[in-house]
Amino acid sequence: MSTRNALFALSLAFAFGAGTAVAETPGLGKPINEADITAWNIEVLPDGTGLPAGSGTPTQGAAIYSQKCAICHGENGVNPAAGILPLVAPPKFDRIDALKTVTYYKYATTLFDVVRRSMPYQMPKTLTNDELYALSAYILSLNKIIGENDVMDAKTLPQVKMPNRDNFIIWAPDKI
Ligand code: HEC
Repeated sequence: MSTRNALFALSLAFAFGAGTAVAETPGLGKPINEADITAWNIEVLPDGTGLPAGSGTPTQGAAIYSQKCAICHGENGVNPAAGILPLVAPPKFDRIDALKTVTYYKYATTLFDVVRRSMPYQMPKTLTNDELYALSAYILSLNKIIGENDVMDAKTLPQVKMPNRDNFIIWAPDKI
């Protein structure tokens, strides 16, 4: 704070009743509590940090998918509604116009994170952790990245190696 601003603040404080005006808040909003923070603090890191308890298989995911996702993303992740990317695409990354969908992701945990925070589009954050693992397993298995019976949980999901993982170029390795 510059001297001029400090003087201005001081004169305000006197004008509005010495001291108390500075100490008091405007009385707007309410204090945030731990539960509020937990509800928003849901990011998942590539190494699995932040993944919740729970598990799911591709078979379980298929049932949830046809109920809650297929209407927009298409049966089996292909032929989506107009303007929506398919969730199943061949891992072909030799061109700049490669489809930037699930197969493009560098880490499998991104899939979990994206679905958890934003899907289903019309009612995000309504899926249980088991449903999220099952849907991740189903979409990964549709893309043949995991087997049809592989169980996804906090331990196995971060171990899945995505097909595009090694194609990302670090432009300035000395800067990280
Ligand atoms: C009402 C239509 C709708 C439904 C239902 C829906 N989605 Fe989506 N989904 C979208 C749209 C639109 C986008 C693109 C959003 C964007 O890019 O902002 C998207 C994006 C995604 C992406 C990111 C794809 C990418 O290109 O990176 C994933 C993954 C995904 N949805 C999974 C699901 C799953 C799993 C379900 C079911 C639980 C689901 N979605 C239900 C409309 C829908």
